[in-house]
Amino acid sequence: MSTGDARSSGRGRPGGDGLAGELRHLAVDLAEEAGQLALAARRSGGAGRRSGLRTKSSGTDLATDADRAAEQLIRSRLAATRPDDGVLGEEGGESPGSSSLVWLIDPIDGTTNFVYDFPAWAVSVAVAERAGPDGPPRPAPLAALLGGAGRLLAGAVHAPVAGETFAASLGGGATHDGRRLRVDPGPLELGQALVATGFGYASSARRAQAGLLAHVLPAVRDIRRAGAASLDLCSVAAGRVDGYYEAGLNPWDLAAGLLIAVEAGAASRAIEGLPPGGPTLVVSRPGLAEPLAGLLAAAAAAADAHAAAGHNGR
Ligand code: IPD
Repeated sequence: MSTGDARSSGRGRPGGDGLAGELRHLAVDLAEEAGQLALAARRSGGAGRRSGLRTKSSGTDLATDADRAAEQLIRSRLAATRPDDGVLGEEGGESPGSSSLVWLIDPIDGTTNFVYDFPAWAVSVAVAERAGPDGPPRPAPLAALLGGAGRLLAGAVHAPVAGETFAASLGGGATHDGRRLRVDPGPLELGQALVATGFGYASSARRAQAGLLAHVLPAVRDIRRAGAASLDLCSVAAGRVDGYYEAGLNPWDLAAGLLIAVEAGAASRAIEGLPPGGPTLVVSRPGLAEPLAGLLAAAAAAADAHAAAGHNGR
C-alpha cells in the first residue's frame, strides 16, 4: 500500500463498536497523522544524523526534533478531542488527567532507525484505563510493564515508510490495514521458530542481553532485531515472526503492540529473573509460549554458569 493510502488504512469493520472501538479509530487517526508529519520531516532532510539530534539515557539513546513534533501533535489533538484524559509520552512525560483513561504515546518507536533512514520505525498510540485502587484489576503478569496504566482498551501502530497500520481494541480483534489478524494457534518447535528481540541502551544491560542471546540463537531458526518494539509485537500478530522477547521496555514502547498481538491471538507473559533483570516481555504464537519460556530460563541459567566460570557475563 502506498503511503498516501495510509491515512484510512487502519480502519475497517473489525475493531468493535462502543468506547473501545471509538478509541481505536482515534488512535489510528493520531498515529497516522503523526507518522505523516515525521515522514515529511525525514524526507525533507530535516531529520537525520545531523539535525536536531540529542541523546537521552545513554549516548546510544537518541531523540530528534521529529520525535518531539510528532508527540506534540498527538498531545494537541488529544487536548482538543479528549481533554480530560491523561497522557504518558516518551518525550513529554506524564500529564495527569481527570478521567479514568491514559494515553501511552511513542511518537517515533525505532528512533535510531529513523535517524539512519532504516525503514523500521513507527508511531505507537495506545489508551488504557488507569490503574489504581479503585480501578479495574490489572492483568497481573504484565502489570509491571504498563506502569500507571491498567487494562489496555485500544491501540494503533503506524509504520509510515511501509504505509502500514496495525490496530486493535479490547475484545474487538486486531487488524493490519483493515484486514483481521489471526495468529496461528498450532504447535511449533523451537528449531522452527523465528524469534525477534531487542536490546536496551545501557552497555551493562546489552552485555547481559548478549549473554542470554548466545544461548538462544543456537536453539531457534533465527533471530531478528528490527529496532522497534512496537513493530516486533505487530510482527508476532502478523506471523512475520513466531515470537518476541525483550526486557527493559517502557509502557509507551509496548502498549499498542501488545494489545494488537494479544487481540490477534498471541500468548503473552512477563518473566522475571532473566538477564539483565526486571520483567521480560515474551509474546508468541500460543504453541511456542511454553518452549520459548523454557528456552529463556535455560539460557539464563547457562549464561549465569558461564559468568560464574569467570567469563564475561552479567
Ligand atoms: C526502542 C526500540 C527498540 C527497543 C528499545 C526501545 P525507541 O524504542 O523499540 O527496538 O529495543 O528497547 O527503547 O527508543 O526507539 O523509542
